[in-house]
Amino acid sequence: MKDHLWKKIFARVRHCSRRFLIAGCLVPLFATILSGCTTNSAARPSDKIKVGVTIYDQYDTFLSQYMDCFTKELEAVEDVDLVVYNASQSQQTQNAQVKKMIEDGCDVICVNLVDRTDPSTVIDAAKKADVPIIFFNRELVEGDIGRWNRLFYIGADAAQSGILEGELAASTCLSDKSIDRNGDGKIQYIVLEGEAGHQDAIVRTEYSVDTLIKKGVEVDKLGYAIANWNRAQAQTKVASFIENYGDGIELIMSNNDDMALGAIDAYEASGMLKSDWPAIFGIDGTTVGLEAVRDDKMTGTVYNDKEGQAEAMYRLAVTLGHGGSIEELADEFEITDGKYIRLPYEKITATNINKFLSR
Ligand code: BGC
Ligand code: CA
Repeated sequence: MKDHLWKKIFARVRHCSRRFLIAGCLVPLFATILSGCTTNSAARPSDKIKVGVTIYDQYDTFLSQYMDCFTKELEAVEDVDLVVYNASQSQQTQNAQVKKMIEDGCDVICVNLVDRTDPSTVIDAAKKADVPIIFFNRELVEGDIGRWNRLFYIGADAAQSGILEGELAASTCLSDKSIDRNGDGKIQYIVLEGEAGHQDAIVRTEYSVDTLIKKGVEVDKLGYAIANWNRAQAQTKVASFIENYGDGIELIMSNNDDMALGAIDAYEASGMLKSDWPAIFGIDGTTVGLEAVRDDKMTGTVYNDKEGQAEAMYRLAVTLGHGGSIEELADEFEITDGKYIRLPYEKITATNINKFLSR
């Protein structure tokens, strides 16, 4: 699906959402528009498979780009019908969507859990109907994925992203003495964290800070703020840090690009000279994140391989939908425990930005 079409669909759903939410029928509308096909499985030719997807929040920048990649992959395949639902940050809504997709005859369902600690309803419904589930991006705990042999996870290794972000920050701090603006030999830093309880928030924070210290940077933590992956929330939080510390913040490590961009928004709004800004690092390499690196507003970011993850999800969905097994993908992807596919992260700075901008 083309970018503009995807945006138009979201805009249309946004436009209609109040009316349809009240009527309680946003979900079927959304699914039908996005799939561009009927939800009546009996009407499909028997060799066509039906893939259902539910995402935790359609406004998440990384996930909306991920879904662009996924739909583009599927667009090229003629024997697949796709339905996509937005769970609007409600696990209850998502549970109902999964049940609906099963009733509608989906052969495989991809779930971006709202609450990664609460997959029971989804798992029970899928198991009962014998429909395989591919969880993605929001990782369920090990005990839960072990509850049935047709549950899978596609994502990345959160620890690796934290380590790479810490390494990027460390090499900047160690090579550019002007980062230590007050010259006290320590780097005054803050961390912007994603949703509490999300594997990528907890683990990225821990590993990025640990790596920075292990690499020999002396640090002085000014504070941290939870901004739920969200640009506007991060801007508000960073604006109040700027009020407290003025130009005393030397480094900001953010759990994702959108929050790093919120920090940049706060500095731009503050009118502070660019030379007094901290070095700012993100994770994701979304289009807007890459542009901020190109424009020298973000010092670096870490590539969360949405193309690779979307491709793995598409390949696995089609394979499982046709009754195959994950092992058939062993030549293309590294599979762990017969259940997990994790794509590697990569460091991005001004020196290799073009490679990513042209992806
Ligand atoms: C991404 C974030 C995104 C989150 C959603 C993370 O892996 O880095 O940008 O908001 O997933 O679950
Ligand atoms: Ca300092």
